[in-house]
Amino acid sequence: MGKTELLPGDEGGIVRAAELLSEGRLIALPTETVYGLAGDARSDRAVARIYEAKGRPSFNPLIVHLPDARLARDFVTWTDTAQKLADAFWPGPLTLVLPLRAGHGLSALVTAGLDTVALRVPAHPLARAVLRAFGGPVAAPSANPSGRISPTTVAHVMAGLDGRIDAVIDGGDCDVGLESTIVGLAGVPTLLRPGGVPADRIEAVLGAPLERDAGDAITAPGQLASHYAPGARVRLNATQADPGEVLLGFGPMACDLNLSETGDLVEAAANLFRHLHTLDRPGIAGIAVAPIPDTGLGVAINDRLRRAAAPRG
Ligand code: TXA
Ligand code: MG
Repeated sequence: MGKTELLPGDEGGIVRAAELLSEGRLIALPTETVYGLAGDARSDRAVARIYEAKGRPSFNPLIVHLPDARLARDFVTWTDTAQKLADAFWPGPLTLVLPLRAGHGLSALVTAGLDTVALRVPAHPLARAVLRAFGGPVAAPSANPSGRISPTTVAHVMAGLDGRIDAVIDGGDCDVGLESTIVGLAGVPTLLRPGGVPADRIEAVLGAPLERDAGDAITAPGQLASHYAPGARVRLNATQADPGEVLLGFGPMACDLNLSETGDLVEAAANLFRHLHTLDRPGIAGIAVAPIPDTGLGVAINDRLRRAAAPRG
């Protein structure tokens, strides 16, 4: 494909990004969670190229991004529960999985043959501007090679995908730093992936607890064991580094890098992938990670850390 264009995050960059999407080409796009690898969700060719650029197994379905919640009805059977959650959390780091409706027009490759689709309205102003300028549904998994650490800066995107995508538009660092929370609404509301919106906030809006996914690989294939994995081995709940290791800390402590010295989980989420990228360099045998409280955003942080530490397939 040749060179990856670096687009500025201004009006010119937005117009160019939308134009590339209209031509069925691939751009990396900042969202408030992580950078996404975006392509026209109606184009089989564009979506096939997303899978190819990521080296992603084709059974793993993609999230479709929309500029506006009202457009969701073009693609899915919308429900009162979906409306409630959209009112509360869109635009923002929440993805809803809903039944596809007839005539949806999405590429079958987006859903990997499921009868549901994952939808999200991102909050990042640049993402929204590009989505509005393009005017259609955009498929966007995280903009990293499959199984590796998700990107929260343009430099991360380029390190993994330079030459494999047509362009990247620069939106600086991602605020949330963790992927969206995924809630399945095809049946009883179910937490499919912890993420940027803590589950208890969703449960407060629903007025009922979410079902927890049984960990069935088919309902959320991206939730397979080894994922978000740096090259170095990751060891969890460490209080100090063993020889050859670096220590990723949390709260006041002596360490190589700290997710949040003040023990703030929002700050820790925003730093997680960036710090893993920073520590994941040649010559480092392992990354030891301090314990993170399993509450609020800590649930999603621990989910990503467990996957990063899982045995590699
Ligand atoms: O924050 C995010 O969600 C980022 C940004 C770019 O929006 N995107 C992202 O996409 O994390 P990706 O492709 O890396 O993760 C998509 C997840 C996967 O775990 C996939 O299995 C699940 O969504 N998924 C997609 N469609 C689904 C469906 N119909 N049913 C259940 N899970 C689905
Ligand atoms: Mg991903």
